[in-house]
Amino acid sequence: MATCYDYTFARLLAKSPIDGILVGDSAAMVMHGHETTLTATVEMMRMHVAAVARGAGDKLVVADLPFLSYRKGLPAAMEAAHVLMAAGAHAVKLEGVGGHEDVIAQLVGSGVPVMGHLGLQPQSVQAYGGFKPQGRDAVAALAIARQAEALEELGAFAVVLECIPAALAAQITATIAIPTIGIGAGADCDGQILVLQDLLGLNSSFRPRFARQFCDGETAILKALAEYDLAVKSSEFPRAEESYS
Ligand code: KIV
Repeated sequence: MATCYDYTFARLLAKSPIDGILVGDSAAMVMHGHETTLTATVEMMRMHVAAVARGAGDKLVVADLPFLSYRKGLPAAMEAAHVLMAAGAHAVKLEGVGGHEDVIAQLVGSGVPVMGHLGLQPQSVQAYGGFKPQGRDAVAALAIARQAEALEELGAFAVVLECIPAALAAQITATIAIPTIGIGAGADCDGQILVLQDLLGLNSSFRPRFARQFCDGETAILKALAEYDLAVKSSEFPRAEESYS
């Protein structure tokens, strides 16, 4: 999987062999320049989901329920999910399990496929004191493993495992029947997910160890912009065939 937040990239992903798209609340950081995902709102996510859905073809589109939108009571959580599903999502993703088991059960029982998200839960960044790998001691690892089992029991169809030791992700993957989708969780997850702008190398100042760059998009784009600028300033662009008579 890869994240996506807009129509143009959704169209490209639709032509790719990648299986699924996550309209992540990382949109708040990647598209809006915020420091964390905590500023994402249901309305922000609705706009991104609708744009992605228009371009995504037959790809699976999963939408993140944003910070606290599923912690304000069952009706509010159902309304948030309703907005994102009506905007074109096929499923929603939410972080953690404890305290919103009722939301997960109600969504699943209502026909809304739910993807879980365990390990580093970016919406808990203030509780962690930063974006830090999770599950690195036995107690924390066991807690994450238990949460994965609880998600499966509640009917989640898949779970993202973010920034946990590879061995823990492997053990969870072997234990639960639903697919695990890793990001910074090693090679033994059933699938992987990366932020699209990270894998395309569009932000050279953000290089977490798990985010391999599969192309140097920043260099390619800066080169194109410099060539365009030079062509204009040297009066080489536009040519006659690029103008109307
Ligand atoms: O919001 C997001 O982009 C995510 C992925 C990092 C899994 O949750």
